[in-house]
Amino acid sequence: MKIVLLGYMGSGKTTIGKIIANHLNINFLDLDHYIESEENSTIASIFKEKGEVYFRKKEQFYLSALLTMENEFVLSVGGGTPCFGSNMELINKSTPNTFYINVGIQELAERLYREKEQRPLIAHLKNDELPEFIGKHLFERSFFYNKAHHKIKADKKPPNELAKAVIDALV
Ligand code: S3P
Repeated sequence: MKIVLLGYMGSGKTTIGKIIANHLNINFLDLDHYIESEENSTIASIFKEKGEVYFRKKEQFYLSALLTMENEFVLSVGGGTPCFGSNMELINKSTPNTFYINVGIQELAERLYREKEQRPLIAHLKNDELPEFIGKHLFERSFFYNKAHHKIKADKKPPNELAKAVIDALV
């Protein structure tokens, strides 16, 4: 069984993914962490030192390596992963269990106020600039996110409830 969780930064993919993996007793993988360990660097340093284009190439490489190598896992991908190259097609082909964790702009902004430092795409923004940035970004990205086999409306729902919704929808 392969399960892939996707959605915007701050949508809770990692938290929900860990609960699901624990419940099903399978591995939890986080693409960002995998890239960091393979590249021996942090996402923020990769962006800073090598640039976004380099990061996206590596992201595609490690995504495809993980999707073909491992057999059973819950994989949380980065907020941008589904939106570059043929990543979304690759993800959807690897399993029928792909889930878009759909959180609205306001809730994302509230979470990202506190967590933006480690995220190179938003670290430079002031808090009051976040909602507009997220709104525009989500508008572009939801085209890709909505290709997921399942879409879960996640606003105001606790991680346990969202994990259960994923588990109930598994095929
Ligand atoms: C990104 C999201 C991040 C990380 C990188 C770029 C994006 O992952 O891959 O900073 O383009 O949205 P998270 O969604 O896990 O924060």
